[in-house]
Amino acid sequence: MTPAAAVVLAFAAGQSWGPSPMLLESAEPHVYGRVVLDNFSTKAGMAPVPFEHARHRLLYTCRVCHVDVGFVMEAGATEISAETNRRGLHCGACHDGKRRNGDGTIFAACSDPGARPAPPACARCHRRDTDAELRERFERFARTAPVDRTGFVDWEALEARTRPADFLEGVTAHADRLRNDRSFSIPAFGTWLGEVTFSHPKHARWSGCEGCHPEVFPVTARGAVTFRMPDFVAGRYCGACHNKVAFPLAACLRCHANAIGALPR
Ligand code: HEC
Ligand code: HEC
Ligand code: HEC
Ligand code: HEC
Ligand code: HEC
Ligand code: HEC
Repeated sequence: MTPAAAVVLAFAAGQSWGPSPMLLESAEPHVYGRVVLDNFSTKAGMAPVPFEHARHRLLYTCRVCHVDVGFVMEAGATEISAETNRRGLHCGACHDGKRRNGDGTIFAACSDPGARPAPPACARCHRRDTDAELRERFERFARTAPVDRTGFVDWEALEARTRPADFLEGVTAHADRLRNDRSFSIPAFGTWLGEVTFSHPKHARWSGCEGCHPEVFPVTARGAVTFRMPDFVAGRYCGACHNKVAFPLAACLRCHANAIGALPR
């Protein structure tokens, strides 16, 4: 998005719903989608565990983890622990020291949780990276990945190359998948911003139906539930993913693509 378009849209936003466009702030690109897990680790004398969406969504769809493995889409809510990992749940569904990834074996999680001092291999997960290290790692990654004008990775373009797997042997059930090939327009209420086109098929490919129904969006007739930008900012509806893992709300024109037809994205 051009700076001019950002100003115009931020103004429109302030006009219709808010005291401050600053509310739209999300994490910066180098830590976007990074969830630091520390329900138990520090208390048990271990460093916290950062989980990187960027590292994992290259390999798997959202559906594999949030439906099949069963991670809650809310930081800290799943109560992942050394014990659940060792039982082959949560991180341990993949990080069990046996499952294959390409030619290699995926390293195990919490295989010997009582070991002190903790063996060096534990630090692949239990670690404290400095901000400078995270920036440097992101810059290296961003050199090979498509990055949009706002400085965030364009995951749709990147995943077209990496083709994340939608299946995890022994975990994903072989069930017939529901389909919903209807895309539809959601009118932006009371503004000149035009309609937002929402793609059911694309979102179902990422998240499955269960990624949104019934928790994020109850399955009701369209229009029965009203949702507005402030709901998204608060992390509801479209904001359950956008601003946390999928592209941030500040990338207005990726949703409001019809807003000002002449401006580039
Ligand atoms: C390899 C597994 C994995 C994949 C793939 C994955 N996630 Fe997650 N996700 C997690 C874990 C683990 C958490 C943290 C859960 C917890 O803390 O209880 C999480 C948390 C989240 C959160 C909450 C973040 C926050 O800050 O509150 C959102 C939103 C989310 N995921 C969306 C997605 C979307 C969208 C995709 C696909 C583009 C995706 N995830 C792919 C494992 C995964
Ligand atoms: C659906 C399978 C899957 C799940 C679930 C999963 N991972 Fe991974 N993870 C992988 C694969 C595959 C790799 C890359 C393989 C490798 O490097 O051995 C990886 C890589 C990583 C790396 C990068 C290590 C490095 O040195 O580059 C970390 C850290 C990591 N995972 C942590 C976690 C944590 C923490 C969880 C749970 C919150 C988790 N993963 C859940 C499959 C998974
Ligand atoms: C694949 C990533 C991964 C690896 C490797 C890993 N852990 Fe963990 N571990 C986790 C996660 C995720 C948690 C839960 C984080 C939280 O919320 O505190 C955890 C929690 C723990 C806890 C907290 C106590 C509890 O009951 O949950 C201990 C202790 C622990 N791990 C020990 C170890 C040791 C020792 C090693 C090395 C032998 C290790 N872990 C390797 C991911 C990992
Ligand atoms: C990213 C979120 C998301 C995913 C994933 C998703 N949906 Fe939806 N779905 C929506 C939204 C948003 C609406 C409209 C809700 C409203 O207007 O109140 C909707 C509405 C519906 C409706 C009722 C309205 C209609 O006319 O279509 C059905 C039926 C439905 N979805 C089925 C599915 C099925 C089947 C899948 C999986 C193939 C799926 N959805 C995946 C977000 C999603
Ligand atoms: C369950 C998570 C989730 C929810 C909820 C969600 N999205 Fe997305 N959306 C994604 C992911 C993942 C992508 C891929 C791009 C990325 O990750 O940055 C995406 C991409 C998009 C795109 C670009 C692809 C396209 O269709 O052209 C648009 C536009 C979009 N979302 C609009 C919406 C709108 C509007 C809503 C609410 C009605 C919504 N999304 C709700 C996860 C979600
Ligand atoms: C993830 C997709 C998405 C992004 C990104 C997004 N919007 Fe929206 N926006 C929507 C949807 C969907 C609606 C329709 C909700 C309604 O009005 O019923 C909407 C509605 C609006 C409205 C109408 C009033 C309201 O609150 O519903 C305004 C104004 C607006 N957006 C401004 C912005 C601005 C400014 C940005 C960037 C800073 C932005 N939007 C980014 C999806 C998005």
